[in-house]
Amino acid sequence: MIMTMTMTLLLLITIPFLCGVHSLDDPCDPTKKRDPKTLRSDQITVLINGYSEARIPLLQSIAATYSASPSVSSVLVLWGNPSTSAHTLSWLAHNLSLSSLGAASISLHRQRSSSLNSRFLPRPDSIGTHAVLVCDDDVEVDSKSVEFAFRIWRSNPDRLIGPFVRSHDVDLLRKEWIYTVHHDRYSMVLTKFMILKSEYLSKYSCGGGGRMREMRRMVDEMRNCEDILMNIVVADEINAGPVMVGVERARDWGDARNGGRRLMGRVVTEVGLSSRRGEHRKRRGNCIREFHRVLGKMPLRYSYGKVVSSVGEQGLCQKGGKLVLCDH
Ligand SMILES: *[C@@H]1O[C@H](CO)[C@@H](O)[C@H](O)[C@H]1NC(C)=O
Repeated sequence: MIMTMTMTLLLLITIPFLCGVHSLDDPCDPTKKRDPKTLRSDQITVLINGYSEARIPLLQSIAATYSASPSVSSVLVLWGNPSTSAHTLSWLAHNLSLSSLGAASISLHRQRSSSLNSRFLPRPDSIGTHAVLVCDDDVEVDSKSVEFAFRIWRSNPDRLIGPFVRSHDVDLLRKEWIYTVHHDRYSMVLTKFMILKSEYLSKYSCGGGGRMREMRRMVDEMRNCEDILMNIVVADEINAGPVMVGVERARDWGDARNGGRRLMGRVVTEVGLSSRRGEHRKRRGNCIREFHRVLGKMPLRYSYGKVVSSVGEQGLCQKGGKLVLCDH
């Protein structure tokens, strides 16, 4: 009896706090889909993935920085940690709504599940722009570079855009697909910072039939690789790779899923860290192989080079009787 009363009291106290926290109905409901003509092209919606309560201060500062940009229409913090208390969440929603530095609002959205696929839900009620920036709560990119990356997207609206890139490749000895880094080419943009058409969110979450459903299920099973799958969805659609953009300043405070742990930008060296990195690469290779198996083809395409915001000084110097670029 006393228990029930306490519970009721608790509910009465927490319900008003929860009003600022949005939830979702059927994310793929076709009647809710926005007419593309009503979407803005001059601004971008930022979707920040939040999970770690310890990183809330950093999350808040990153969200505030994005909200200050004139190119940002609104900032959505997608909270994916199911064990965060309603009390903490309501405070976070409140604090975030106050921390906006510009015209863009910051709102908190609790994910219905901890599925990594949730970060790509279409959210027609909250996304009113053609472009979205999907990013992590521990990666800071300076605002000039955000503006620049968005400009590059506007001239390449079908491509995925971002500064952090990786590659697929074939291991010739084992005859299997692998996940790797090439110094001269790339085929995937990471969701540490990824700009894409909001339309692709629907393609990922609602389209593609049984194969797509199977691959989304694999993402849940492996608790990884939603970014690889988005790269595959887009490459399959446009038969082209992503565009890498240069950024002036990017701070990566560490990705827990990589097994790396960083404190205040300093890499905390731990025994076994590099073997865990190897494990991470292996798991990502497995994802590529599984997606390839389901699709029966490899849609990923390589891109070359990086778009930078300045071509720099190109003065000519005399060297050995010849005119050459002074940098050389
Ligand atoms: C919200 O802000 C208050 C006051 O600055 C702070 O004490 C609290 O820890 C913050 N909580 C969250 C969840 O952000």
